[in-house]
Amino acid sequence: MSHPAHPIIHFDQASFGFPGVIALQDISLDINAGEFVGVIGPNGSGKTTLCRAVLGLMPPLSGHLRIFDCSCDELRCHHRARIGYLPQKGVVDRNFPVTVLETVMMGRYGALGLFRRPSKRDREIAANALAHVGMEGHQNTALGQLSGGQQQRVFIARALAQQPQVLLLDEPTTGLDITTQHSVVDLVQQLHEELGLIVLLITHDINMIRSRVDRLILLKTRLFAFGPPADVLKPDILRQVYGKDLVITERDTIIVEDYHHH
Ligand SMILES: Nc1ncnc2c1ncn2[C@@H]1O[C@H](COP(=O)(O)OP(=O)(O)O)[C@@H](O)[C@H]1O
Ligand SMILES: [Mg+2]
Repeated sequence: MSHPAHPIIHFDQASFGFPGVIALQDISLDINAGEFVGVIGPNGSGKTTLCRAVLGLMPPLSGHLRIFDCSCDELRCHHRARIGYLPQKGVVDRNFPVTVLETVMMGRYGALGLFRRPSKRDREIAANALAHVGMEGHQNTALGQLSGGQQQRVFIARALAQQPQVLLLDEPTTGLDITTQHSVVDLVQQLHEELGLIVLLITHDINMIRSRVDRLILLKTRLFAFGPPADVLKPDILRQVYGKDLVITERDTIIVEDYHHH
């Protein structure tokens, strides 16, 4: 029987890793429909691994992970298409020969199968995704000619073209100037609200997301905290994870020193 609070993503004492490395240990958490969740933690704390696990790319070494009520090995293409993903990345080479519309159409291949030709409806979905990110006027522009922030919008549109229920964004603001960072996070919040998407947003900028997300996941291999920002962003909890790198100003701004040295 279905239940309104039935979790879409369900980790139950799940561990993930690589040969010789435990990247995430003993993770138990539930994410429900329509939640906006921020994922924070130091470099190497398992944030990207959490994303890859949700995509079904890393089966648990122990414990369980269920998404849409499927275990990872059952997560076929049509399920994976319901999860839009923006990988952690750099800027696209200026000469990379692909247009904005071609990039967004790649988001349709999960639904299409690789060898079916895109239909008029696929083109409409792609155009609609571009409109959602404010890039509808750039369909035929070469991707490499866009600014970093515009490229991120196009990659978000590619994820939206999958018509996902879940959107995973791995450090979408890294390398952008501060104004552009805010506009990308504004866009993500707007998509969450307008489309009712579950959003998992990985970021180093705790202050930028703390007033926007429903809950925060604080990782350092283990799950140190998971809850509303006010419950997670407590000095004693943060200090366990960030140690001496943590500075909290009198105005309650959280600064983690090590990120400023990268
Ligand atoms: N392909 C890989 N092979 C081996 N170890 C990896 C690989 N990717 C990540 N790791 C290790 O897994 C841990 C978590 O990495 P990751 O999830 O990328 O952290 P984050 O995204 O928080 O920086 C780190 O110790 C990292 O070195
Ligand atoms: Mg990462």
